[in-house]
Amino acid sequence: MTLIHATKTKGLPSKVKGLNYSIKKFGLSKCEPSELEIKKTLSRFDLYFCHSGSDFSEVASDILSRIKPVEDSICFLNKRTLISNLEYFQSHFLPTSTDRKILYALKANPVSAISKLLIENQIDGFDCASWQEIEQCLKLGALPSQIHFNNPIQKSAHVEMAYKKGIKHFTVQSASGIRRVADICTKNRGDIELAVRVKTFSPNAKIQMSEIDCGKFGCLPSEAVQLLKEAKILGFKTGIAMHTGSQNSDPLSYSRALSQVAKIAEKVGGINCLNLGGGFPVNYSSGDHYDVAEFLGVINRAFEFYKPSIFAPGEDNQVIIEPGRGIVGDTIDLIIPILEKRHGNKLYIANGIFNAFSDAAIHNWKYYFETYTLDGRKLSNELVKYDVYGETCDPKDKLNHKVLLPADIQEGDFLWVKNAGAYMDCQKSNFNGFEGPKYVLYG
Ligand SMILES: Cc1ncc(COP(=O)(O)O)c(C=O)c1O
Repeated sequence: MTLIHATKTKGLPSKVKGLNYSIKKFGLSKCEPSELEIKKTLSRFDLYFCHSGSDFSEVASDILSRIKPVEDSICFLNKRTLISNLEYFQSHFLPTSTDRKILYALKANPVSAISKLLIENQIDGFDCASWQEIEQCLKLGALPSQIHFNNPIQKSAHVEMAYKKGIKHFTVQSASGIRRVADICTKNRGDIELAVRVKTFSPNAKIQMSEIDCGKFGCLPSEAVQLLKEAKILGFKTGIAMHTGSQNSDPLSYSRALSQVAKIAEKVGGINCLNLGGGFPVNYSSGDHYDVAEFLGVINRAFEFYKPSIFAPGEDNQVIIEPGRGIVGDTIDLIIPILEKRHGNKLYIANGIFNAFSDAAIHNWKYYFETYTLDGRKLSNELVKYDVYGETCDPKDKLNHKVLLPADIQEGDFLWVKNAGAYMDCQKSNFNGFEGPKYVLYG
């Protein structure tokens, strides 16, 4: 196992001076600047290291054995898995259509190395939630035409900065949303796509996004018709957006949503752009057997069937998916040191609900753990229920469920979360000053 030769830390911005220490501490190289540039503006997510190995277990053992003591969580990002996920969407989502676009929903994991690799491998663009996300994509080399500003809540200042930078695609779901965009985008509206997000029924998604009682995502079909008419009167190109919910287990929810979209589009004489959102699930537990091919198969067939009703004839049209979880979910293994074990069944870990496990508190999300020991020790087959506490001072910084782990697990061992790539460390806060995990890139 060889490591990329150490590169100099010279030239790093003072903001990330701590990295010098980390590099020494890790005894590893920072990525070659030519491969992944470290720029002044990049956030702490960019403190990552490259490893030339391709096997997670070998890479993890090598890295962990070089750090003494290991007291921080580490994300091991498999570049090969990331690229093959993108290639899978590229070859299975309407593969022969020139109208189709695959955007990466940056919010799922904004680590710059991920966006860079996606750009290098011909991602069509990015779904962004804020000006900050837009700016990050632009700095990494995305073109304004590749950026879609689709957040359900938008600030005028962000819309204005996006418009001035040449962003040409906005999604709204209310009359005031349309007014905000129209007040700012006063010129060349015929070049700007204004999509209206409609609520879709998808009870089998883990995170419901556009159910009737969700006041944030989407409007009712009747409202969508009114909003699209208004957008047309204002001179915009129009689109319909939807999201069937994150970690959606029901492929048919997409065809149901498409039939609803077709009815709306017909009532307004057709639209230019259809955005089917994300939602593609990841297999988290041993009981999950989702197959993205099945989802894309349903989408492709339903789209071909409804296409004549959806698109305005004779115009430039595009059909978009914007996976977040589906692209990054299974690219990361998260290794978390156990800092203390008390009273037999209480573990205190270098992470918590203010860090990668915020969805335990927000969405009552259940996590699956394996154990990892540095020396490859076999832990006992006897499983015991543990309370797992985070490292902050908040007494409620504790996982929402008991975790079954070997009876003899101890301080210095690790919890191992597979498929930890989406919506984990990027949702962290800085509470108590704790930073998120460092990243190791391999594969
Ligand atoms: C507008 C929008 N598009 C796409 C996504 C990505 O969804 P997923 O991660 O389920 O693929 C999200 C997630 O919140 C979203 O808000």
